[in-house]
Amino acid sequence: MPLKVGILGTGTIGGILAAALDQGRVEAKLVALCDQDRGRAEALSASLSSKPPVVSMSALLEICDFVVEAASQAALPEFVPQAISRGRDMLIMSVGGLLGHEEWFRKAQEKGCRIYIPSGAIAGLDGIKSASMGQIDSVSLTSRKPVAALAGTKYVIERGLQLDGMAGETIIFEGSAEEAAAAFPSTSNVAAVLRFAVEPSVAVRVRVVAVPGGNRNVHEIRAEGEFGRLAVTVENVPSNANPRTSQLAAFSALATLMNIAKSVRVGT
Ligand SMILES: NC(=O)c1ccc[n+]([C@@H]2O[C@H](COP(=O)([O-])OP(=O)(O)OC[C@H]3O[C@@H](n4cnc5c(N)ncnc54)[C@H](O)[C@@H]3O)[C@@H](O)[C@H]2O)c1
Repeated sequence: MPLKVGILGTGTIGGILAAALDQGRVEAKLVALCDQDRGRAEALSASLSSKPPVVSMSALLEICDFVVEAASQAALPEFVPQAISRGRDMLIMSVGGLLGHEEWFRKAQEKGCRIYIPSGAIAGLDGIKSASMGQIDSVSLTSRKPVAALAGTKYVIERGLQLDGMAGETIIFEGSAEEAAAAFPSTSNVAAVLRFAVEPSVAVRVRVVAVPGGNRNVHEIRAEGEFGRLAVTVENVPSNANPRTSQLAAFSALATLMNIAKSVRVGT
């Protein structure tokens, strides 16, 4: 029996996953879609050959074995506890929304369900995870983002930052992964992914740099410890539909789903 998959959030990432499932690229069946914008979910369903039904969140959780969240951090307080109480395995894209809710991990463990957190728009998590089996002295993430991807974010609006007038690359944020995810809920999920990849006692320092005229989301991860040193840079192409979401993030969700559905897995 193929895995029965449901998707919450039928935007950029949800749409790419739904199309891949519809094309038979994953050994799983797309059985339902849900979005707070019902028209969007219906339009996606109509574009697919399998025409999955558009349902409520509770129906989604009832009929699917596996649920993908590709909606928003705001969706998590309702979605995750319900998915856990039904014992559903889930893939979470709005990873920043998991920070401060580590009790969900404990409850998922008790219920025997799994929470998958894809690498998203960064690379090198295999090395970071292996490195964290020993002593880690420092971990940092520097995200260089085009002004277009930062404009309209909560942090930029609240601080009244004038990004258009910047003469060159400017550091607009420095802080912890938790602070980054709270300041940039729709663009700093990668900081949260990195946070969860290492022990809670290891500080993850984050810098966000605004790049006037930039057209890529560039993430640079550095770590140092007992294992040696690691430096990984990814230059991400923003997706066509959403400049805040890198193509690699959507591909990473798809690769995770493929991995779950397959019997052979490669990599850490
Ligand atoms: N982990 C990562 O590396 C990474 C990378 C990129 C994006 N993301 C996150 O993944 C999520 C999806 O990204 P996207 O680019 O597909 O976004 P998008 O804006 O293109 O689509 C999101 C969809 O979810 C729906 N939605 C939002 N809140 C909802 C709710 N509470 N209930 C039901 N539907 C809801 C919206 O109506 C929209 O259709 C976002 O939270 C984004 O920040 C994570």
